[in-house]
Formats: sequence, structure tokens, C-alpha cells
Amino acid sequence: MALLSRALPVAPGITLWPAALAPEAQAVLLRDMLERLEQAPFYRPTMPRTGKAFSVEQSNFGALGWISDQAGYRYEPCHPVTGLPWPAIPPLLLTLWDEAVGSHAKPECCLVNLYRPGARMGLHQDRDEAALDAPVLSLSLGDDALFRIGGTTRRGASQSLRLKSGDLLAFGGPARLAFHGVDRIISAGSSRLIPGGGRLNLTLRRVTPAQEQPGGAKKDARPGG
Ligand code: SIN
Ligand code: MN
Repeated sequence: MALLSRALPVAPGITLWPAALAPEAQAVLLRDMLERLEQAPFYRPTMPRTGKAFSVEQSNFGALGWISDQAGYRYEPCHPVTGLPWPAIPPLLLTLWDEAVGSHAKPECCLVNLYRPGARMGLHQDRDEAALDAPVLSLSLGDDALFRIGGTTRRGASQSLRLKSGDLLAFGGPARLAFHGVDRIISAGSSRLIPGGGRLNLTLRRVTPAQEQPGGAKKDARPGG
């Protein structure tokens, strides 16, 4: 794996590793994910209050999955449709986390977003986690996306990044609460990785605070997590 050799600083707290995963490693990861997703199929979440359906489909890996429905945004240990626990996070993603942001305790959630052509994601902050000290780490697979990221206010200046298959992006520290979203997917055959076309985004997040250990090492707060 040609891992994390070229880090491009995007803005304070925002780092991009273009082509962090080579095409063969992307295909291996995709196979692993598709097997896990048999137990945790994609479903279409709905917006709090309005109940409007998202244009993306979602699933999760890890001890806690991020969900949205009319009751609000939150983390849950089980899939809202099947009632089963989420599958474990693929080990390759844990390796990427260690290489990119390894000084933080392990991620507990890997949100999986599936963008078929035409899907998008409005500007938002990731703020449902108690562990805001850990960055958000996000891997793109499949078709290119026009990803927008700005500052910590919705109306501030923002920049557009064209995220390609295999690109890894971290935002943390001063950018942990940066507004971000996906303006659109470039679906004119920019990748043939995803069966049926489109883009997958894998977002790793620490949810619960890690306990400080004597000597400074951090340990997971959740038993067995
Ligand atoms: C997200 O913010 O949940 C997804 C971002 C992306 O698809 O790149
Ligand atoms: Mn997000």
C-alpha cells in the first residue's frame, strides 16, 4: 500500500492525502466492505423533523453508527432497519486511521455514504460526537466528488476540492467543526470501481472521549472498543 507519503495541507487543520490507496487496495477494501454490508444493507435516512429523505444512502461499521430520522441525529449500536449490531470497521481503515491521526484513540464509527449519480450532501458540521479532540478522517472511493469545506460558520468563505477515488482527507483541530458537504458527483465515468456506479465515502470518527492514561497514552473509554 502506498500509504500517506504526500500530505497536502489544505487549510489549518485540513490535510489531503491524494491517492492514499492505490487502485488494487481500493478494490480489496471494496470487496471487504461489500461483504460486511450484506449484514448492514444501505438504507435511506430521513431528516429530523421534516422526515424528508436524504439523497444519499447510508450504513455504518463500528461499535456506534450515526443515524438520522425524525427523532434527530444520533449514534446507535444497531442498524435501524435490521436491528442488528453494525459490522466491525474493516482493518484497512483502522490502519489508515493509525497512519494519518494515530495519536488519537481508535475510531468507533465508520459512516458509509453511497452517492448514486445526482446525490449530494448539504453543508453541515459533524458535531454529534463528544470526542471533538479527534479529527474526522474521510476516504473517497469511486466517482469524483466536488467536496466543499469552509470554516466554522455556515456563511464564511469555503473552498471546493475534487476528491478522487483513493483520496484521504482529515479535518481536525481548528477545522474539526468546519462546515462541509458534497456539491455534486462527477458521474461521467470518472471511476468504474463501484458496481452500479457512483461514489462511496467512508468517514471515521471517534465518538466517546478517550481516557487519559498515566504517562499520556490514550485508551479507549468503551470496554472492548
Ligand atoms: C459526510 O460529511 O458525511 C460525507 C462527506 C463526503 O461524502 O465526502
Ligand atoms: Mn460530515
